[in-house]
Amino acid sequence: MNLSVQGIILAAGKSSRFKTDQTKLVQTLCGQAMIVYGVKVLAQHNIPLTILVGYQKEAVQNCLAPYNFSSLTFIEQQEQKGTGHALLCSQDTWTAKHLLVMNGDMPLVTPEIITSLLKHHENTRATITFATAHNADPTLEGYGRVIKNESAQQIEIIEARHFQGDTATYCCVNAGIYLLRTDFVKKALTQLPPHDSGELYITDLIAQASRQGLVVETVKVPFDNIRGINTLKELWTAEHIKRSEIIGYWMEQGVRFSAAQNVHVDVDVEIGANSFVGAGSLLIKGTKIGKNCHIEAFSFISNSIIDDHTRILPHCVIEDSQIASHAVIGPFAHVRNGSHIKENALIGNFVEVTRSEVGPLSKAKHLAYIGNACIGSQVNIGAGTITCNYNGYSKQITTIKDHAFIGSNNCLVAPVTIGEHAITAAGSVITEDVPDYALAFARSRQINKEGYAQIFKERHEQQKAGVSPFTGAVKADHSSFISEE
Ligand code: UD1
Ligand code: CA
Repeated sequence: MNLSVQGIILAAGKSSRFKTDQTKLVQTLCGQAMIVYGVKVLAQHNIPLTILVGYQKEAVQNCLAPYNFSSLTFIEQQEQKGTGHALLCSQDTWTAKHLLVMNGDMPLVTPEIITSLLKHHENTRATITFATAHNADPTLEGYGRVIKNESAQQIEIIEARHFQGDTATYCCVNAGIYLLRTDFVKKALTQLPPHDSGELYITDLIAQASRQGLVVETVKVPFDNIRGINTLKELWTAEHIKRSEIIGYWMEQGVRFSAAQNVHVDVDVEIGANSFVGAGSLLIKGTKIGKNCHIEAFSFISNSIIDDHTRILPHCVIEDSQIASHAVIGPFAHVRNGSHIKENALIGNFVEVTRSEVGPLSKAKHLAYIGNACIGSQVNIGAGTITCNYNGYSKQITTIKDHAFIGSNNCLVAPVTIGEHAITAAGSVITEDVPDYALAFARSRQINKEGYAQIFKERHEQQKAGVSPFTGAVKADHSSFISEE
């Protein structure tokens, strides 16, 4: 491209049709803010970018900050007086010969559309080239209709709410992406007619150029790619499209989805070949799934790394954690807060793991809470075991060394260390360190009363018959019966 171009993105609007009291531009589709999509697409063309901000400008700037886009300038439109006024506010930044202006609410736009617009503009040497799309739906709101009078060689854009004609005839809508000669814009913007509430429309530049006999060109692009998002309903539609695109991409990379229509995958997620993703799963926030993994139905995996050959059984929640290869998690497990489950480990039903490391081949298969624990390799954690890691003020660490065996229903009161190959008896409350190879009992002794079960039964039957086992009189209060002995 030989054109001297700079990009301008309009992102100052009030988002009033969203009705959320929040700028729509920071709302996410598949985990990425709406504004970021457009900025990324223009940034790919290596042109300097100006972003018009105004309404909730900090929110817009904050959501762009992590991406470290180079040559990004923010200009403030203090009062939201329309798209034409927004462009006018940026005039001090105009150094290139052409301005590529785009609405900020177009998350489905592609770099190819921008390239074709740039090429067409360059080839035709037009004053204005803008993108259009076919949509004959008479109920379509929020788009300007492109009205071409071929014989008079005139072209203009009429906004949907002012348009009275037949949409089957005027089936072209304005996409909201314009390439404009800067020298033309400089003069023309000062002559824009104010609309109803004093707003200036960028779209009026088209009629102005046309009336002056200047070349105005259009490039037709698919409607889905230029959807502008004005309402939450439109956001929902656009997110559907984006999600299908993402899932379709991973299918092409060899990922099998069951009931793909109810799986959600964020834009920054990665999935290895020959992996399976079950119905209702949500893979979000940059989660990386390796090759040959099996993610079964209804799992929520956020900001986590799932290594190759891992199985996540149904209904698991995994957040900010890493699961190493050949591990099996779930069903109904919750792994969170930077936990690391190592190779071949098993985390089973109703087990919660937080801020912990579980070593290779270790198992916690049923009903356990593992918090702030460092668990070695080949450790067995019995059902119902919990690490008592919190004293109400601070968290303490439980260390369980290689090959230790924790009996069922243990309370491991941290800070505490269980040595290598040590065993703790079922039902123990472990408050002191257990040396390597030791067997720890920490529970009260059992007392067996010979024959007492039979006595107990007889008394109960007598009582049911209304005869006191003690006096022969009717006994009203039998609650003390059990505790008598
Ligand atoms: C606009 C076009 C319409 C086109 C449609 C495509 C105008 C007048 N109309 O309508 O022809 O078919 O886009 O989606 O341009 N903004 C500002 N400052 C403002 C007002 C808006 O920065 O004062 C920004 C918004 O944040 C938004 C963009 O400009 O990102 C477009 O504004 P919006 O109100 O969504 O325009 P539409 O009514 O959709
Ligand atoms: Ca819009």
